[in-house]
Amino acid sequence: MLALDEASGRVAGFVHAGFAANAAQSALDYSRGTICGLMVHPDFRRREIGTALVRRAEDYLRSKGANSVVAGGGLEQNGFYAGIYGGLDPSGFCTSAAAWPQFFQKCGYAPCDEVLILRRDLIRSKDPVNAKLLRHRRHLNLVITDRPTNESWWWFVRYGHLDSLRFELHEKANGNVVASGQIIGMDLFIPKWGVRSVGIREIFVPESQRRHGYAQALLLEICRRLKGESVELVEAHVLPADQPVLDLFNSAKFDVTGRLLTFRRSL
Ligand SMILES: CC(C)(COP(=O)(O)OP(=O)(O)OC[C@H]1O[C@@H](n2cnc3c(N)ncnc32)[C@H](O)[C@@H]1OP(=O)(O)O)[C@@H](O)C(=O)NCCC(=O)NCCS
Repeated sequence: MLALDEASGRVAGFVHAGFAANAAQSALDYSRGTICGLMVHPDFRRREIGTALVRRAEDYLRSKGANSVVAGGGLEQNGFYAGIYGGLDPSGFCTSAAAWPQFFQKCGYAPCDEVLILRRDLIRSKDPVNAKLLRHRRHLNLVITDRPTNESWWWFVRYGHLDSLRFELHEKANGNVVASGQIIGMDLFIPKWGVRSVGIREIFVPESQRRHGYAQALLLEICRRLKGESVELVEAHVLPADQPVLDLFNSAKFDVTGRLLTFRRSL
């Protein structure tokens, strides 16, 4: 939905409303509305245009059956703007971009989720070295496969237009997969960021293989390969409550560089 200034014919702002996916990620769940994007042109701010756009978005979502709305979508819940806004995943609104908490509080929303943006600068940072990692390099093989095929409909909606690869660490002795992960190319950000960047997601280690350092070994191996492909920046999105995942990325030299916020309201 666009807000047009009648006097000048200029676009004063826009809001983009949509829906979250169902639990199986096979279709939309029309009971759960999202505000995927919202922007008011700087020349038109503080005239309640943003508020009016949010109200129109809510009317639309309600008319389609939504009983709640999450502004910003949340981790893996925003069906639009992957590769355009928010980095790896448009999982919320950037805290650095606008006074989102004040704005959405005034619109009657409560704070919902926070998603941490973790980044590693591959040019400046050095890999950690320890005996365990060296041992893993001798006993494990890195296997890279083409774009994922068994992903959900929702995955293809969000990432289908971007490059992706799956990485697996296999035990040389028996071929067992001890860790896996996925990368998503973020070349669309090159004009804005000036560097080649890649997102890492879905790092997974089978229950029986945990606490052996396999996830760290996989992350470091992925970073090493990406550096060889002129990638300078690697990014991941993590919930602050997910301490094991935060510790893992920390051990692979990733730092928190930003926060994405979401806000929720019942309709
Ligand atoms: C956030 C944004 C949408 C607000 O639009 P707006 O039309 O200026 O908002 P409103 O005039 O409806 O503001 C309503 C209330 O929100 C709060 N608010 C809005 N902007 C604020 C600011 N910069 N600082 C503090 N409070 C603010 C105020 O309480 C305001 O009420 P008041 O003017 O009576 O004090 C606008 O600043 C914007 O587009 N920023 C960039 C958004 C962006 O980066 N989008 C990309 C993600 S898709």
